[in-house]
Formats: sequence, C-alpha cells, structure tokens
Amino acid sequence: MDQLLSQDVREIELSLIVPTFNERDNIVPLLEKIEAALYGIRWELIVVDDNSPDGTSNQVREIARRDRRIRAVQRIGRRGLSSAVVEGMLASSASVIGVIDADMQHDEAILPQLWKAVARGECDLAVGSRYVQDGGMGEWNQKRQSISRGATWLAGLVLKTQISDPMSGFFVVSRRAFEASLPRLSTIGFKILVDLVASAPQPLKVIEVPYEFRIRSFGESKLDSAVAWEYLVLLADKLFGHIIPVRFVLFVAVGGLGLLVHLASLGISLKILDLSFLLAQSVAVLIAMTFNFTVNNFFTYRDRRLTGLRFIYGLLSFYLVCLVGAVANVGVGIYIYDADITWLLAGVAGAIVGAVWNYAVSSVFTWRK
Ligand code: GDD
Ligand code: MN
Repeated sequence: MDQLLSQDVREIELSLIVPTFNERDNIVPLLEKIEAALYGIRWELIVVDDNSPDGTSNQVREIARRDRRIRAVQRIGRRGLSSAVVEGMLASSASVIGVIDADMQHDEAILPQLWKAVARGECDLAVGSRYVQDGGMGEWNQKRQSISRGATWLAGLVLKTQISDPMSGFFVVSRRAFEASLPRLSTIGFKILVDLVASAPQPLKVIEVPYEFRIRSFGESKLDSAVAWEYLVLLADKLFGHIIPVRFVLFVAVGGLGLLVHLASLGISLKILDLSFLLAQSVAVLIAMTFNFTVNNFFTYRDRRLTGLRFIYGLLSFYLVCLVGAVANVGVGIYIYDADITWLLAGVAGAIVGAVWNYAVSSVFTWRK
C-alpha cells in the first residue's frame, strides 16, 4: 500500500464524468477544450457510454490508451443519462466530481470556477446555470424554453435547496455530498441534478455560475417525449417513492383504466353483438388483459419495454400471471365473504391481493430485468 501510494503523490483534484450516447465526433474536440480549460488542475475524465452504435466507446479507448487521465466505461443493455452519471462517479476517485455533456453545449471555460468553489469548501455543489444573471439559453426555440421553465418550476416541489437551473446537467459536487445522496438516488431518466439535490439528507450549500448554453455541433439531442415522461416519474418517486413504489401506482392506475376497457367491451358484446354473458365476459377479460399489458409495456415499464417476439412471450406470460391473480382475487374474496364480513370489504380485499400479485409476479416474470 505504502509502495503504491508513493508512486505518485500528486493527487487527482477533479474527476469529470461525461455521459455519452452517439457522440463519437464530439470526443476529440471536447477533450481538447477540456484539456485547455483545466490547465493547472490535475483531472481524470470518465466517459460513460451506453454502448453507442456509432462507436463512441472505441473512440474514447483509442485516446485512453495513450492518455491515462481518460477512461471509457461502456455499459451494455442499459440506457439512461442519470444512471450513467452515477456509475461514472462511483468509478472515479477525486474528492471533487464534475459532470459535463459531451456535445460541447456546456461552456467548459467556467469549469475551473465551479471546481474551485467546491474544492475550497465554499459550497457542496456548484452549478453551471443558464438562468442566473449573464447566463443564457443560447439558440433554444420558444417551445423548448417554456418546457424547460415548466420543468424547472415543477422541480421546486421536490428540491430542498432552491436552484435557478435545476435542469442543468453541468455541475461540480463534492464526493461527500454525492455519497450522502447516494442511498436515496432514484437514477431515473435525464435529470441527475434534481435527483441529487432532492436526495440530499441535509440542504446543500449551492453556488451558481452563469454560462451561455451553446448549440450542438455534431450529432443530435436525445431529448424526446420519453425524457419528459421519465422526468415526471422521477418527481413522483422523489415525492412518494419512499412510501409506495411509483411503478406500483402506475400499474394500479393502468388497472383502473383496464377496468373501464373491460366494462366497455362487455357492454358492446352484450348489447350490440348480442353475445352470451359467458362469451362476452371472456372476451372482455382478454381485451382488458391485452390492454393492460400494452399500456404497462409502454409506460410503466418503458425502460424494460418488450418488442417483437418478446412482446408476444411477454403478453402470454402476462395472461398467465393475471389468471392466477384472478384465482387469488376470488379466493381471498370468498374467504372474507364466508367469514360474514361485508361483501364490499371482501371485494376490495380480493382486488388488492390480485393487484399486488399481478404487479409483483409480472415484474419478475413478464418484465424481467
Ligand atoms: N450514457 C448515456 N446514456 N448518455 C446519454 C444518454 C443515455 O441514455 N442520453 C443522453 N446522453 C448524453 C448525451 O450523449 C450528451 O452527452 C448528454 O447526455 C446530454 O444529452 P443531450 O441529448 O445533448 O441533451 P440536451 O442537449 O437535450 O440537454 C441538455 O440540456 C439540459 C438542460 O435543460 C443536457 O445538458 C442536460 O443534461 C441538461 O439538463
Ligand atoms: Mn445536448
């Protein structure tokens, strides 16, 4: 150990994490800019790449072979900006950690200022902000600006410390603060800063440094409707995730919609198609289960979404899970009903047992990790 330690006594002062997906052409220019901006600071840089088809990881390794400050962490079978950042932080070693996008939209020139504020203990967190005086949105259109402002307003619901630009993916944090938030992080979606600040056991001391958001030169933004959805799930998880899993709430909400679908299809089969009750009810069950599976696959489990052949297998396993769930539902209902407690309680208890069963078992069998 002592031997190891004496090899290089100059400690790394900043670990910089760069999440990437399809950013190959940005790597070299980014590293050049970082190198220039961080002159005089001893840094390491970890690119966390989600197995980009454009070969971003290879591009990073190419450089890393000759520059020990740089490393690629290549993740397989997973996607997500927040979780990538967290894994990069865990793989790093400096006591001060920074995060910056690969596409050079963040102004690396303010990095030393962000770093210094944390390294000197003036704050736990230094955020590159577009909203404080002298900061700017760059060339964003009106629509994206208002979405961003709306999202910022919503963040106020969960943040313990007010930040003018919690949507920022450009910040420097002390390892101590990161580690304090770590056990409670949700790591859902895109907004790691919101997650980090909302998960802090004590309010963080924050400094904000203005910068002008630049336009992307190569590649394209990964922002889409999924990002907005995942943001809402993140907020829900921060608000009540410690009481009840957000996924379960979504699953039950979808189940409620499924009940409406069931009743509608039952009504149509009986009144319009004139089917027998047995047949009509059976068709309605099948339609409702298919509906529930499809909607859950799209929203509740969008991070594990099944496609192609796996969609079919998933659907069949979901039918099976639900059929067993229905048996459990009826069984519990009858048990309580027979004990001479009100029919309403029997019905509700059966439904709860069925819902919990369906949720628990389908999360293991249908939407396996
Ligand atoms: N590993 C990994 N996995 N990286 C990802 C993923 C992913 O699933 N999705 C995006 N990234 C990387 C991109 O390659 C890029 O380096 C960075 O995360 C930001 O992604 P962009 O697609 O460029 O995001 P943006 O320009 O729309 O959003 C930016 O502005 C926001 C401010 O509202 C980012 O800076 C956000 O972090 C920032 O919050
Ligand atoms: Mn970008």
